[in-house]
Amino acid sequence: MCGIVGYLGHKSPIPLIVDSLRHLEYRGYDSAGVAYLDDENLLRIYKASGKLINLENLLPPELQLRQLGQNGNGHRHIGIGHIRWATHGAANDTNAHPHTGNRSEIAIVHNGIIENFYEIRQELQAKGHVFHSETDTESIVQLLESIAESENDFCKVILKALTKLDGAYALTAISKKHPNRLYAARHQAPLVIGVGQDVNGHPEYIVASDAVAIVQHTNKLIYLKDGEIAEISPEGLRLMNFKGEIIEPVIETISTDPLTIDKKGYKHFMLKEIYEQPDIVRNSLSGRLKSIHQPIWLLGDTPEAETLFNAFLDTIDRVVIIGCGTSYNAGLVGKYFIEELVQVPVEVEAAGEFRYRNPFISPRDLVVTISQSGETADTLAALRLAHQKGAKVLNLTNREDSTMAREADFVMPVRAGVEVSVAATKSFTAQVTALYLLGIALAEKRQAANPEQLEALKADLLKIPSRIETVLHNTDALQAMARKYGNTRDVLFIARGVNFPVAMEGALKLKEISYIHAEGYSGSELKHGPIAMLDSSIAVVSVLTKGTVFEKMISNCQEAKARDARVVAITNTPIPPALQNTFEDILEIPESLEQLSPLLTTIPLQLLAYYMAEFLGKDVDQPRNLAKSVTVE
Ligand code: G6P
Repeated sequence: MCGIVGYLGHKSPIPLIVDSLRHLEYRGYDSAGVAYLDDENLLRIYKASGKLINLENLLPPELQLRQLGQNGNGHRHIGIGHIRWATHGAANDTNAHPHTGNRSEIAIVHNGIIENFYEIRQELQAKGHVFHSETDTESIVQLLESIAESENDFCKVILKALTKLDGAYALTAISKKHPNRLYAARHQAPLVIGVGQDVNGHPEYIVASDAVAIVQHTNKLIYLKDGEIAEISPEGLRLMNFKGEIIEPVIETISTDPLTIDKKGYKHFMLKEIYEQPDIVRNSLSGRLKSIHQPIWLLGDTPEAETLFNAFLDTIDRVVIIGCGTSYNAGLVGKYFIEELVQVPVEVEAAGEFRYRNPFISPRDLVVTISQSGETADTLAALRLAHQKGAKVLNLTNREDSTMAREADFVMPVRAGVEVSVAATKSFTAQVTALYLLGIALAEKRQAANPEQLEALKADLLKIPSRIETVLHNTDALQAMARKYGNTRDVLFIARGVNFPVAMEGALKLKEISYIHAEGYSGSELKHGPIAMLDSSIAVVSVLTKGTVFEKMISNCQEAKARDARVVAITNTPIPPALQNTFEDILEIPESLEQLSPLLTTIPLQLLAYYMAEFLGKDVDQPRNLAKSVTVE
């Protein structure tokens, strides 16, 4: 959360920084700000609450067009920028970054949380520092200014300050006293430095929370590790650890094309991403599921990686899946599928719980971390804890360049493509597809299922994309339902078996983007509490699929109907005529094998959430209070 950018080069920094911040808006959009040193070496700061557009409107037009410092004192052009997801203090102009100290000498932008900020603040206030914001970040910059009173080497100033900070941070700083230098430090929050050249061959450096904010300028990147600080100047880049010892930087050339963020004619990114799902599933299967007669090829990269992973799979006797939010829900689908098919125990845990409870983990566990971004703080901490306990980690991620992908022992890219909408949709289906492949591969290796069963699963998996297309081509009924239930205050989603996690995901989608109260329950749990809420004002969206729990779900729906709830069915099999009056609305979707049905049942729930939020006029792609990548605990 929060996105930071820094620039040092010959270009006009502010337009470049603002453009880079646009690529980081998924990390937060509570406020935005920029700081730079002008021709007279004065520190200039512009910041505005709300979305980036508010900052853009605030910036004087000439600032965007003029080549800053062109006629100046020979300084390079330097600046920093920030997009905020508020942790400490309201989302107002004062709390927006960049922050500076009382002498307006240093400016910093920060992503993360300083846990001991209050102690630092009190200490500095006792020395006469006056604080203006409620942020933890202001403590860092005031501390820097305080140390800089007696220390001229700004690198040492930062290193001294860092020894006093507890918590997580990625930060970038500039100082009037060192106008040619940009500083960047990382401790438990992502930070990457692009090393490029402008058209005249001058070197330029762009620091950012994510490579997506850099790749339009260069594909040569240095990924900072925890405990590293970079000093960037016209002489080049110096990388050090927090003891001040020099480290040789590793410059990686990444293949990512400059990312075009384009709605491709759709009204919202979320809708575009929902419609991409048939191709995402195809992508995900491609090269991995070559034919129903061939074994699944999981990691794809090299035969060596595959052999190593396969050898490891032979040794495991448990699977532990860890994730947050939508990734956690995908993990739950994986549990139902893998445990049933492979007959190996599968645990699923929310990363934020796992990391603080001293869980039992052994080297014979396969720990699977699932993360679209590969940067979620809790999941990353869980991955590290699993490593400490001797387990090997497979990371399912949409970002092969992420911290998790770098730290995991094995990586299975989910290949969902860039997901812009904060509410995850296509990454969920891609993760679930990856878990299906993992399950089938495990079953093949262990001969846990007969070949016919595995072939049937593979054959059905290959048909999923065109079935998703069928759902996507028939949205009139869903749009009508959205209008009908759009003003409902509470919606319960119920399902059983492998679709129970789909009910949770449906509820999550609805609450994320429409702010309607929604909960996902197992149909069997309805009578253990939630049923008390039911009356004619409540909608119950049920997922009914042909197979083991269909009749059970019908009974649960009847229990809801008996309490006057407005029951909706999303079903892949015709509801017998005698039972149809249980439901106010019935939506039929294509049939599939029961185990694979979540890839289809999820789609109408995503669309329902989308159309309801749209009907209510909500900001679908950037819902309030949320961020796409949560790099704070
Ligand atoms: C945030 C996002 C969710 C996402 C969760 C986990 O809360 O808003 O959409 O599911 O983080 O993110 P990850 O990148 O680890 O999958």
